[in-house]
Amino acid sequence: MAQSESSTLTIPSSGKIPRHIAIIMDGNGRWARQRMLPRIAGHRRGSEAVRELVENAARLGIEYVTLFAFSSENWRRPPEEVSMLMQLFISNLENEISRLHQAGIRVRIIGDLSRLGQRLETLIADAHQLTRNNKRLTLTVAVNYGGRWDILQAVNALLRDHPEKMREPVTEADLSPYLSMGDACEPDLFIRTGGEQRISNFLLWQLAYTELYFTDALWPDFNRASLEAAIRSYQQRERRFGRTSEQCCAPES
Ligand code: FPP
Repeated sequence: MAQSESSTLTIPSSGKIPRHIAIIMDGNGRWARQRMLPRIAGHRRGSEAVRELVENAARLGIEYVTLFAFSSENWRRPPEEVSMLMQLFISNLENEISRLHQAGIRVRIIGDLSRLGQRLETLIADAHQLTRNNKRLTLTVAVNYGGRWDILQAVNALLRDHPEKMREPVTEADLSPYLSMGDACEPDLFIRTGGEQRISNFLLWQLAYTELYFTDALWPDFNRASLEAAIRSYQQRERRFGRTSEQCCAPES
């Protein structure tokens, strides 16, 4: 697996447009409640916002978009909502995958997929297979995902493959290929909609030096202008990666 540049071991190159955006899509339920609609109507409109986001991200030249669709803690929701969300993932995959493939999008689903049921597991495997060589943008959807789960599964997989590491110090370079996003660059920009300011057990390892952006917009309302506003905010940040401001501004020698 290709190794990604670590923000703690190197200074990753960063340009005006983030290479990788990670998003917590919050506020679907409130969007629905404001309209006296059932919560699932908010999730459906949220899916439409995902479609628009992917189109806009591809147009802007963003290479990776990673979405938190269902956390390992979301099983605590009422069973009817969980079941409807799973149905929505199934219908989204069934209905969108060929369009995404034609648009050159590589689709990846990350998380503990063992609890999702056979139907979803098969659709996910088919989507990975169909789109695996696409280069325009990688869309990663985290389902039954938790950042702590990810680190633990990586440690366990590393020790399974390299039992000698039980007695040696484990390095970042050893561990990172085993993380779910091991082949992607770390997110440059994290966006959370819906007014909350939390990471909620998303990409705990990978967000080490990510720029954080929080907006009150509810996810179904997140549109092209919202994405452009988030990117404008990102463009005003000074990414120091532990250096001083003077070091960052120094002309290249
Ligand atoms: C959080 O809003 C949203 C979710 C837990 C589900 C996100 C799912 C989608 C956008 C559907 C489709 C996804 C893809 C990738 C096609 P919330 O329910 O917590 O909202 P609230 O805080 O207003 O109650």
